[in-house]
Amino acid sequence: MHRKRGIVICCFIGFIALTSSFTKDNPYFLINKKDVELKIPKGFPKLVYEFKNNKPTVAGFALGRKLFYDPILSKDSSISCGFCHQRFVAFAHIDHKLSHGINSLIGNRNVPAIQNMIWQSSFMWDGGVNHIEMQPLAPITNQLEMAETVENVIMKLKRNTEYTTLFHDAFKDTVINSQYLLKALTQFTGMMISDNSRYDKYLRNEDTLSKEETNGLKLFRSHCENCHKEPLFTDNSFRNNGLRMDTSLRDIGREKITGLITDKYKFKVPSLRNVELTYPYMHDGRIRTLKDVLDFYAKGDFETINLDESVKRNIGLTEKDKLDIIAFLKTLTDKTFTYDKRFADPTGTY
Ligand code: HEC
Ligand code: HEC
Repeated sequence: MHRKRGIVICCFIGFIALTSSFTKDNPYFLINKKDVELKIPKGFPKLVYEFKNNKPTVAGFALGRKLFYDPILSKDSSISCGFCHQRFVAFAHIDHKLSHGINSLIGNRNVPAIQNMIWQSSFMWDGGVNHIEMQPLAPITNQLEMAETVENVIMKLKRNTEYTTLFHDAFKDTVINSQYLLKALTQFTGMMISDNSRYDKYLRNEDTLSKEETNGLKLFRSHCENCHKEPLFTDNSFRNNGLRMDTSLRDIGREKITGLITDKYKFKVPSLRNVELTYPYMHDGRIRTLKDVLDFYAKGDFETINLDESVKRNIGLTEKDKLDIIAFLKTLTDKTFTYDKRFADPTGTY
């Protein structure tokens, strides 16, 4: 009788040990169905990308996550998406002005956060990409980033037996192609939604804001809202907010894509969600702190070509105004998002 119970207990412990090491080594199994349910936050606008023909599934999302953190996508297997896009800072690259790619090459632009992408109609600082599924092609083929070709990535993936299984599970097909690669990555990045900051809770009446934060919100609405539109904190437009061109990078912004002089020096209005974490700021990371951002806007020493009229409203913000706006901006930090385990690196490298 006792011996029998002993065996049962042993078997039970063995089973637990086996399954826990199994799930630890196979994070693929840590995602469950609930994790890939798309919940549209109340008050958010209509989706731009509705996951039509690419509904997130457990296998698809887990594959996207594995790919996102796998340096196999780069030429010499040294750089993954997650190397540049760090989860704990809303997938920006902390403390780096410009991106760092293959062979320690320095790129031309600051790594933006990845959040609420499925509400975004264009990508990159100049809007050079206009579909979320096409976006990964840019870093994979950029010579200063991953410096790889899509054909070669597909070839490497086909040679890898783990990937052949994962792709099959995700798309129920025996082939691996660029379409599936892009769809899987999109299932992962598209699910990165930030909607649980103190600001969000305040809107839902689950939290309150201090006097300074409330005043900051009021000032924000009259000075910044015209471009950094709530609740996404961008209106998806391109504007010149007054930054002068950096004479070594010579980045003309949106004009590079459209060829229009009227787009010179215009850049995509970035979301300000998690802005406390995503420093340094601007397309070239030239501004280090939020205080410096506010000083820049308040000083009014702007580039005049195609300057957006609405930045002039910022000129003359008092020191107290600036501090209150910063206090408000910090309410946009969303730890639920930056600590969300679904988006963690399954290999534990990042
Ligand atoms: C070497 C660093 C680096 C790597 C690697 C990298 N990115 Fe990026 N990512 C950037 C930079 C820099 C930008 C902005 C580029 C620009 O505006 O020209 C960007 C932009 C983006 C954007 C658009 C964000 C927005 O708001 O417009 C997404 C989404 C994104 N990357 C996802 C990925 C994915 C997926 C991968 C892997 C396939 C990846 N990135 C690899 C640096 C990197
Ligand atoms: C004319 C539209 C406009 C107005 C008004 C405006 N901004 Fe911006 N903001 C932009 C654009 C465009 C950028 C990106 C510029 C670039 O990188 O070249 C930006 C960048 C920023 C950044 C850097 C974000 C990052 O991730 O790098 C912060 C912070 C910021 N703005 C805060 C504010 C605040 C606070 C106000 C109000 C006091 C404000 N902005 C008013 C358009 C605007």
